[in-house]
Amino acid sequence: MTQTDATTAATSAQGPVLVTGGTGKTGRRVVARLRGLGVETRAASRSGDTPFDWSDPTTWQAALDGAVAVYITPLDTTPSPTPAFVEQAVASGVRRLVLLSARGTDVPGYFGPAYEDGGPHGEGERAVRASGVEWTILRPGWFSQNFSEGVFLDGVRDGELALPTGDGKAAFIDADDIADVAVAALTEDGHAGEEYGLSGPRALGIADVLDEIAKETGKRAAYVAVDPSAFRAGLVADQGFTDEEAGLWTDALEPITTSREAPVLDGVRRALGREPRDFADFVREAAVRGVWG
Ligand SMILES: NC(=O)c1ccc[n+]([C@@H]2O[C@H](COP(=O)([O-])OP(=O)(O)OC[C@H]3O[C@@H](n4cnc5c(N)ncnc54)[C@H](OP(=O)(O)O)[C@@H]3O)[C@@H](O)[C@H]2O)c1
Repeated sequence: MTQTDATTAATSAQGPVLVTGGTGKTGRRVVARLRGLGVETRAASRSGDTPFDWSDPTTWQAALDGAVAVYITPLDTTPSPTPAFVEQAVASGVRRLVLLSARGTDVPGYFGPAYEDGGPHGEGERAVRASGVEWTILRPGWFSQNFSEGVFLDGVRDGELALPTGDGKAAFIDADDIADVAVAALTEDGHAGEEYGLSGPRALGIADVLDEIAKETGKRAAYVAVDPSAFRAGLVADQGFTDEEAGLWTDALEPITTSREAPVLDGVRRALGREPRDFADFVREAAVRGVWG
């Protein structure tokens, strides 16, 4: 029996897998991999092929009906909708939950004083642990794909990335690695009760990241290190953030500033038996796709 056959036998025969955030950075990669393995998969979100809105619990049951496993891409609001969703999923017959959480959720105060207990990710983690079904928690640090399809893309394209991260470093993790770990946890035995801290294989500062992109593309964006309070004020003045949102976003970047995101974690190796992808591989592939013009 091939790996594909084994996976199909282990999951698809029992029922579909629901992927919330099925159009997002990790979710759509999880969907593609599961479908590639022949696993019946629902890509759920407000714009996905399975309608699902975290803010409207009346959309949840149709997405859950018959599902045996769920990949949870949470909504980062307080309170988190994840606990109520987990309860409904288990009542609906789901037997395996894989939660996308975040690096530092298990470290008090990692995201700043507003999220002393891990914030919405902490709520989600406590809910899956108490669910009574098989669960796996993924705790990735900052994704490499933030530079190619996320919040840092515009700055890279515009030639200037202004962040309050000083000379801090992060071991950026490739969303393809996160998806590989998620699919393993959804489809294979041996991952129940595991909490995988996920990082890339080396730490880079923002200036290093822009160097790597420039080496590959020939286009250099400048890193502008901004004072955190000026950064926060700018989000309110220029980008329509509320002061609270601006504070949370600035706090979320602080683990890069302090290099708390720098130590390399072993979750990819523990889950998959291989090393995580290097940032240079991510840059090469994104450049080939022309994401930076
Ligand atoms: N980005 C990072 O570096 C990073 C690092 C660690 C942890 N995380 C965590 O990963 C999670 C996802 O972040 P991301 O950066 O991967 O986001 P993303 O790529 O923007 O994906 C978010 C997904 O959620 C869906 N979504 C958004 N609002 C929704 C709603 N109200 N109801 C249903 N679905 C909704 C989106 O699809 P629709 O718009 O179609 O609804 C999309 O599929 C967050 O909890 C974040 O804290 C992110």
